[in-house]
Amino acid sequence: MKVLVTGGAGFVGSHTVVELVAAGHDVQVVENFCNSERWIVERIERITGQPLALDELDIRDHAALLATLKRFQPDAVIHFAALKSVSESAELPARYYDVNVGGTATLLEAMQEVGCARIVFSSSATVYGQPEACPVPESAPVNPGNPYGRTKLIGEWLIRDCVAAPGASLSAAILRYFNPVGAHPSGLIGELPRGVPNNLAPYITQTAAGQRDYIRVFGDDYATPDGTGVRDYIHVVDLAKAHVAALDALVRNEARELTLNLGTGRGYSVLELIETFSSVVGHAIPYQRQGRRVGDIGECWADPSRANHVLGWRAEKSLLDICADAWRWQQACSGRDALDPAVA
Ligand code: UFG
Repeated sequence: MKVLVTGGAGFVGSHTVVELVAAGHDVQVVENFCNSERWIVERIERITGQPLALDELDIRDHAALLATLKRFQPDAVIHFAALKSVSESAELPARYYDVNVGGTATLLEAMQEVGCARIVFSSSATVYGQPEACPVPESAPVNPGNPYGRTKLIGEWLIRDCVAAPGASLSAAILRYFNPVGAHPSGLIGELPRGVPNNLAPYITQTAAGQRDYIRVFGDDYATPDGTGVRDYIHVVDLAKAHVAALDALVRNEARELTLNLGTGRGYSVLELIETFSSVVGHAIPYQRQGRRVGDIGECWADPSRANHVLGWRAEKSLLDICADAWRWQQACSGRDALDPAVA
């Protein structure tokens, strides 16, 4: 199948491109490198052993996007291109709405113009806000607590409205990610946080590598087994494979619209994650308990049974795999200039 991938050099996008190529799909990436690096494209090519078709453009540029769509004539689009920092979204809400909502609207219009009728959308468990109970099913109320989460929820509404429009032929898979972590087992691609990481996993690996003094554990008084926050950490390769399965489900015409949680169905605490990383790294990783981070929730983990059933997919990699692969990637990045492909 011909698959256009927006944001194909990003964290989840790059791993999905690898799995798409492995599954025999013909991939075209569009990417503006606003939060990714050009050398990731070469790394993808090294993993797949094939050249990767890339158009450098911004998805808000309707004319450029349309030109790519007209030339490539995709059977489906997987839409990753978006801004993704919760804290930045509070500071720059208009930019987040412009890129995440405006960009998605531009993409949907251009797809309609060329008659492309399948989309897989990168959404987030953040749409649930503070869940009433865990595990969280797709039927749980949505109430995102930050502008980033609201842009993802509006993106979902926008897509469902396009699916439901009179005469529309669009079908859509809306994928709500829990906490994507890990890296490709080759050590060639992984997450590239800019500056000080906001997220726990890259903060742990940078601390283990000596780039940070200690991990700040945000809150130890939550109603969880050890008092620290519990999340559903899913290996990015498992997540990538779910996108390929979602495309297949759209082609099988299982439903016009699928909204699916992508998680493992199991939560781990901050301290459990630190302990598992310590065992992989081979030494204790320093941490200090601090007060709760504003806006955080105690626990959030998925009921992924709908995705398991509809996609015939389940997350297979363990927390140990996650930590081992993330650590391999961290080691490949540290001690040399990760932004210079020549040293790789
Ligand atoms: N945490 C720390 N120290 C840190 C960073 C995080 O203790 O330095 C804790 C948090 O308090 C939380 C857990 O680690 O308990 C996970 O925090 P992350 O920042 O890694 O992830 P979040 O669950 O807060 O948010 C992530 C993504 C969002 C996404 C959401 C989906 O960052 O983009 O998952 O549920 F929307």
